[in-house]
Amino acid sequence: MSNGDVNQGRRRFLIGATSVVGGVGVVGAAVPFVASWNPSAKAEAAGAPVTFNVDKIEPGQQITVEWRGKPVWIIRRTEEMLENIEQLSSRLKDPESEDPQQPAYITGAQRSIKPEFIVLVGICTHLGCVPSYRPEVAPADLGDDWLGGLFCPCHGSKFDLSGRVFSGQPAPLNLEVPPYRFDNDTTMTVGLDPEAA
Ligand code: FES
Repeated sequence: MSNGDVNQGRRRFLIGATSVVGGVGVVGAAVPFVASWNPSAKAEAAGAPVTFNVDKIEPGQQITVEWRGKPVWIIRRTEEMLENIEQLSSRLKDPESEDPQQPAYITGAQRSIKPEFIVLVGICTHLGCVPSYRPEVAPADLGDDWLGGLFCPCHGSKFDLSGRVFSGQPAPLNLEVPPYRFDNDTTMTVGLDPEAA
């Protein structure tokens, strides 16, 4: 796979992230115009936590928000998806996510605060392409044993719906879980730990 292909994957993310952030409408809305001429304020805005309403995410749907210039995915998993995740441990490289690439409060197969919502940085841990969301079971191109997950088009790495990489894939690590918290039942903030003020 050439660098051109990798760059194309990144370009696709940039286009996608721009449009989705516009749709979520959380970045920039509260930033005063001074951010356009004050570099430090601008930098702060770029790394600011992102708050949004998870109630609007349909079961099985994936949305993308931008945080610190990265695509962050929130997938609302169905009961069936959660059951499928539990069957996969023996086929995964690091089923318990023992590499320290996730917050300490995220453990087990579900890798989430609330099982329903998985939050992942949407960048492949191999060479940085953006994987595709492939929630369907046993599609022709991914095989009969595919139970839904994320597929990286650059070099074929496969991840489950907790972002855990399958064995034998080029990606060395599970997808990163960013810091996040629930502010209440329906509001999530990406970029802040649960104990943050
Ligand atoms: S960037 Fe190589 S498999 Fe994803």
